[in-house]
Amino acid sequence: MAEKKMWGGRFAEATATLMEEYSESVSFDWQLFAGDIRGSQAHARVLAKQGFLTEDEAKTIVDGLDAVKAEIVAGDFEWNTSMEDVHMNVESRLTEIIGPLGGKLHTARSRNDQVALDFRLHVSARLRVWRELLRDVVAAFVEQAEAHTETILPGCTHFQPAQPVLLAHHLLAYCQMFMRDAARIEDCLKRTEVSPLGAAALAGTTHPVNPQAVADDLCMGGVFANSMDAVSDRDFVLEALFAGSVVMAHLSRFCEEIIIWANPNFGFVKLPDAYSTGSSIMPQKKNPDACEIMRGKTGRVFGSLMSLLTVLKGLPMTYNRDLQEDKEPFFDTDRTVSMSLAVMADMVPGFTFVPERMRATVRSGFLNATELADYLAAKGVPFREAHHITGAAVAFAEDAGKGLEDLTLDEFKEFSDSIGEDVYEVLDYDACIKRRTSPGGTGPDSVAAQLALVREWIGRE
Ligand code: ARG
Repeated sequence: MAEKKMWGGRFAEATATLMEEYSESVSFDWQLFAGDIRGSQAHARVLAKQGFLTEDEAKTIVDGLDAVKAEIVAGDFEWNTSMEDVHMNVESRLTEIIGPLGGKLHTARSRNDQVALDFRLHVSARLRVWRELLRDVVAAFVEQAEAHTETILPGCTHFQPAQPVLLAHHLLAYCQMFMRDAARIEDCLKRTEVSPLGAAALAGTTHPVNPQAVADDLCMGGVFANSMDAVSDRDFVLEALFAGSVVMAHLSRFCEEIIIWANPNFGFVKLPDAYSTGSSIMPQKKNPDACEIMRGKTGRVFGSLMSLLTVLKGLPMTYNRDLQEDKEPFFDTDRTVSMSLAVMADMVPGFTFVPERMRATVRSGFLNATELADYLAAKGVPFREAHHITGAAVAFAEDAGKGLEDLTLDEFKEFSDSIGEDVYEVLDYDACIKRRTSPGGTGPDSVAAQLALVREWIGRE
């Protein structure tokens, strides 16, 4: 028969082995040990402040918990699944070390407020890591952008060549996405760093607790207002999973572009060997596996968000054991998001963009057609007509295997008398970019201003 449970007072029979296996969470929630121990230490200190423990007792508990932590960190701790979870494993080892005093730690506390606190501390620590990693990613993008403030890329809509843009402008668009991701995380932290300790099982407690003092001890910015909400709220996890999902969506979009650009038919980018693989049968191949894996892993992060939303949707108040299903989706998401960000930050500096290939596509794609239409409109031709004239000139040039800028003035005159010698400056691709002076556009001044803002954001001169 299994040993008596911590909660086993009213039970005559042992838990089924299969039930233990089915319900245990320590195999994954052991990862919460640092927050569990920090939270318990804060709880003990505040119990002493409230006069429930003596200062000596609190010190013995705090030191005992440090000893437990040292064992875990050293890999000497024996996790026991029959003790269900990280909380009971830690408490039981504490009691082994310091004796019956360990049993006083759980006064005025339930595992319901305890697990909520532990998970909040864990999610908050990991969100801070994501935020730092996003900074590294943005720093890597900025460096590439700085190297390509004169590289012209065929900008697309509908994935069809549309207008020339600076490669720096394109990369800076991703910086904006990642900066918003960091802001989303920042916002999520505000609601994550709220202490639920003192809510007890669901209704509060008869003991003279001081939830604010616990929150202060843990440097958490907020404290719960409603004990029932405190033990059943997992919105902070949903928000973290959503923030992670958006990060992955952004990474995945970029991966998709790199995969396309690395195809030799595009040839816009050469991949670093460190982040590509070869084929076991086709010697010529260099595959963009890191980008493909990242694009693929995005699915499991979206899945985790959906999984927790589904867990939460039918739960009556307050704590339900279903909530134990909040952890694995987050652990998996955390691993995926942090590794993906680290890989991206390390991989981006290794990309070699190929400006000549991009420029060749800009030419063959008639990316200066809008310029010709705008030029005619500026000469008083109604824009609809200018659009039509330009379309005819494009069709002619395409047949002749030329770019618009290669047509002679006589050829142009066939389409409109309004076209003069000055058309050639308008059709020049560098000039197309320079004339885009609108705020936030691809013009060099706007790109320089964006670079300055992003540099400031990453804390660089
Ligand atoms: N492993 C549990 C969880 O993750 C800990 C809290 C258990 N609380 C309880 N009343 N059984 O939710």
